[in-house]
Amino acid sequence: MNIGNITLSSPVVLAPLAGITTLPLRLIAKENGCGMVCSEMISANGLIYGSEKTRCMLNSVPEEKPLSVQIFGADPFVMAEAAAMVEASGADILDINFGCAVKKVIKTGSGVALMRDGFRAEAVIRAVRNAVRIPLTIKIRTGWEASGKQAVDIARMAEGCGVNAIAVHPRTARQLFQGKADWSIIAAVKHAVSIPVIGNGDITSPQDALAMFEQTACDAVMVGRYAMGNPWIFSQINALLHHEEIPVVDIARRREIMIEYVKASVCHLGEKPACLAMRSRLGWFVRGLDGSSRFRESIKHVSSETEAISLVEDFTNTLAG
Ligand SMILES: Cc1cc2nc3c(=O)[nH]c(=O)nc-3n(C[C@H](O)[C@H](O)[C@H](O)COP(=O)(O)O)c2cc1C
Repeated sequence: MNIGNITLSSPVVLAPLAGITTLPLRLIAKENGCGMVCSEMISANGLIYGSEKTRCMLNSVPEEKPLSVQIFGADPFVMAEAAAMVEASGADILDINFGCAVKKVIKTGSGVALMRDGFRAEAVIRAVRNAVRIPLTIKIRTGWEASGKQAVDIARMAEGCGVNAIAVHPRTARQLFQGKADWSIIAAVKHAVSIPVIGNGDITSPQDALAMFEQTACDAVMVGRYAMGNPWIFSQINALLHHEEIPVVDIARRREIMIEYVKASVCHLGEKPACLAMRSRLGWFVRGLDGSSRFRESIKHVSSETEAISLVEDFTNTLAG
C-alpha cells in the first residue's frame, strides 16, 4: 500500500482522534503493527497564528513514522500556510479534515461543512496541494445525506486536484457517531476513483477488518475508537490478513503495553500532564475485565509514574493469579 511516495508497512492504519491520538498512543499503535499513524486534527488558524499549544501538536519522533498530520480549516490561504508548516515539521503525509461534524467546527465552514460547499472544498484542496510536496490525503464522511453522492463527488474532484488517497468514514454529518457505518459508501468511493481508498468505521475485530476489505475493495482500513484500549488490534488484523494465527493478548502482554503507555506519556508529555491523562486513559485498556471498575477507581487520583505503574502491576497480578 502506497500513499504517494510513502510505502506503508501494513494496510491497517490508526484514525485521527482529537485529544487521543497524541504521540504516546501513536507510538503504542505503531509498535503493535499499525501501518500509519495520524495526528489528532490541528487547527490551521492555531498553527499560523502562533499558538504554542497548537504547534506542540506537531511534535513527533522517528519511531512512529510514517506520520500523517491532519489539519482543519476553511480558508484556502490559511490552510496552505498551515500545510507548509506541517511539511516543514517533518510530517510524512498531510491530511485535510472533511469529516468533523462538531457544531463549533461546522460553524466556521470547516470539517464536514466543506462537503456541502464544493467550490470552497476545491479551493482548499488546490491551495494546499500547491503548498506542499508531501503526499496529500483527505478524510471525508458520507456527506449531508445518506446517498453518499457528496462523498463520490468530493472524491472525484480531489483525485483531479492531485490528492493521493481518501479515507472514508461512512456516516452522515448529522449521524455524528450514531447508527451503523454504511460500508457501501466506501465501495462507491472506491469504484469512483483510482487513488487508494481507506475504509473506516466500526471495526472492532480482525474479522471486521477482513469483511471491510472484502465488501468494499478498499486499499486499507482505519481503526479509531477500538484502538484506544486495544492497540494490539493492528497486529491481530495483520496476522489475519497473512493467514497467520491471531495473537492472543494475555494479561502479561496487556500489562506490558499499559506500562509502555505510561512511560511514553511521561516521556513525551511530562509527569504531571501524563498522570492527569492516565486517570481516564488507563481505564480503556481494562474494559470488560474482572475488577476493571475497581482499577478505574484506583487510578482516579494517580499522581506519579511510579504509582501508575504499581497500580497497573497490582491489578494485572490479581488477574494473573
Ligand atoms: C473522540 C473522537 C475524536 C475524533 N477526532 C477526529 C479527528 O480529530 N479527525 C478526524 O478526521 N476524525 C476524528 N474522529 C473520527 C474518527 O477518526 C473515525 O472516523 C470514527 O471514530 C469512526 O471510526 P471507528 O468506528 O473506528 O471509531 C474522532 C472520533 C472520536 C470518537
